[in-house]
Amino acid sequence: MTFSAETPDEKLSTLHQRLSEQLHDHNYRYHTLDAPTISDAEYDQLLQQLLQLEQQFPQLVTPASPSQRVGSVPLDKFAAAVHGEPMLSLENAFNSDDLIAFDTRIKRFLATSTEIEYLCEPKLDGVAVALTYNKGVLIRAATRGDGTIGEDITQNVRTIRSVPLQLHNDFPDLVEVRGEIYIDLADFRRLNQLRRDAGETPFANPRNLAAGSLRQLDPRLTAARPLKISCYGIGKLIGKAPQTHQQLLDNMAKWGLQVNLVQTRCVANIHAVISSYQQLLERREQLEYEIDGMVVKVNHRDMQDELGVKSRTPRWAIACKFPPRQAETILKSVRLQVGRTGAVTPVANLISVNVGGVNVSSASLHNWDEIERLDAHIGDTVIIERAGDVIPAVVRVVKEKRTGTEQTIPRPTHCPVCNSPLVQEADEVVPRCQGIDCPARLKESLKHFCSRGGMDIQGMGDRYIDQLLRLNLVSSIADLYRLRKEDLFQFERMGDKLADNLLAAIAGSKNRPLANLIYALGIRHVGSHTARLLAGQFGSLDKLADAAHEALIGIHEIGSQVADSIVSFFTAAKNRALLADLTELGVAPPSENRQPTGKLLKGKTVVLTGSLERFTRKEGEELVMQQGGRASGSVSSKTDYVVAGTGAGSKLDKARSLGVAVLTEDEFLELIAPGENQ
Ligand code: IVH
Repeated sequence: MTFSAETPDEKLSTLHQRLSEQLHDHNYRYHTLDAPTISDAEYDQLLQQLLQLEQQFPQLVTPASPSQRVGSVPLDKFAAAVHGEPMLSLENAFNSDDLIAFDTRIKRFLATSTEIEYLCEPKLDGVAVALTYNKGVLIRAATRGDGTIGEDITQNVRTIRSVPLQLHNDFPDLVEVRGEIYIDLADFRRLNQLRRDAGETPFANPRNLAAGSLRQLDPRLTAARPLKISCYGIGKLIGKAPQTHQQLLDNMAKWGLQVNLVQTRCVANIHAVISSYQQLLERREQLEYEIDGMVVKVNHRDMQDELGVKSRTPRWAIACKFPPRQAETILKSVRLQVGRTGAVTPVANLISVNVGGVNVSSASLHNWDEIERLDAHIGDTVIIERAGDVIPAVVRVVKEKRTGTEQTIPRPTHCPVCNSPLVQEADEVVPRCQGIDCPARLKESLKHFCSRGGMDIQGMGDRYIDQLLRLNLVSSIADLYRLRKEDLFQFERMGDKLADNLLAAIAGSKNRPLANLIYALGIRHVGSHTARLLAGQFGSLDKLADAAHEALIGIHEIGSQVADSIVSFFTAAKNRALLADLTELGVAPPSENRQPTGKLLKGKTVVLTGSLERFTRKEGEELVMQQGGRASGSVSSKTDYVVAGTGAGSKLDKARSLGVAVLTEDEFLELIAPGENQ
């Protein structure tokens, strides 16, 4: 689409408005209703249209335009933001006695002996924010700061897709919404892995990552981080006020805000609060995000008003803290780990200690800059932290406990395994082993190559890889495919059957999908997600190997650093030789044919639901795509077919109510390959 006029005519303004409304609506369906009706790619297409239009006519840009999610120009510094009402903090309760005392205080203050109704909410461990909505439009987002004045981070918060830029359904004239911005544990692990791969210091916990992402002066950096929000209250409100906190949360959800209603409980008295706390503590490990406690609030808002606030904390709420994920122990020694990219990282050997229910005897120290920053010494008393099931890290040294016998941790100059000199590039935080044939690097490369997300060679675990190296049976990844049965017989306790199984697993891996092979090669910055993108885009390893930097950065989600890393991997003679070897040895991923092979479902939208027996959901979706159709996750009036397996539920009901054609698996197969499936 191209535009030439300087000012948008009415048609273009209407188009802009329509696109904005569509994007808001799809966002609401995706984040609030959890029932998208278009794919991510289609959403991106609409957004691109809107961006093009706004580029041509900047006067169309409004604070609520969905374009604001992309991130605009960087700031020099954040402006101050005065809160409409102070952002308070909470008093803490550490046990049930503290909770009973809280309840007693409330009853005394209200001069009542009637039981108090409480709302129990998860206490998310993220960053507190205040969102101001004027006539339903997000006009400002601010950090807590000192509680009275925070920092204006509107540009950054607008990039978070689960923050509505525009409220829905009967919202008040003005409202200051309070919530917590956080990052899921899975995203935290993924981003930290990328940082480790890049030789950067990982974040100690999801909270630090969320805080770091929000405090970027360049909103495009924030936009690249998968931040989420959970809203739990309000500050200033002009409009109808609900009677209870529960009603307030329900209303907020109706306006399109993310509220954690699933984990919130309304209970009749303080004893029920105590059991609610126990239950939430038990659910803690299953949650996809980190919580550090439960917040208890008096449910009736008139009681809240009567109770009022002390200097900085309300009398009507309290935070019940969970046992900390931190523990104190002694740093006994430091061992060096050599990764597959040659990165040498220090790992602390600790006196074993229980951290929130898990025994921990080693923790990451990340790199020597970090050791210096922490001022860590051998013999030091240290605080370690474990977030979710993430690798524990040393976060602080308890210097007051020093005895004077602590020893410095020297920077290594040579690889602890192959003794090659280590080199640290100016822009890196870790030294790297330069030994091309370093056994430690090879070992890590082999482990990665055989791993589940890689070539998935079952049975080829650490123990056998160690033996392969010790017996000098492999000096490159390709050598795995040269192994013979008699080689394996040199292993300790290797039987005929086991050897056959291992060889079969190795041979079976030759036809893994291209994405697995790309990931398995262990190219820096190329995790499984990027590998899938590359496989989808290039379709063959040869094409990827010849791809130029420009072609790579043209792919959505691939930046310059990743492109550089891919190009330099495939330029290295040693890696070219490896690819040639692998091909010669028969490693041949099936070609990724993304083009439809038929058109029996051209232009049709198909939803697969229920438990399917003749194919998996993924295979079914592939079949739809091969016939030129589109597989969708939710049923709407635009759905052409619903393929229903056994136990199909609400999607089937919806299809029936909308009069959408419902097919059995057999009928579906018959539709796409008539006559072949009897
Ligand atoms: S209520 C007056 N509810 O915990 C009410 N806070 O000191 C004050 N937090 O940083 C906050 N989840 O951002 C409340 N469900 C929840 C919460 C919550 C997390 C954070 C809040 C603040 C700290 C309280």
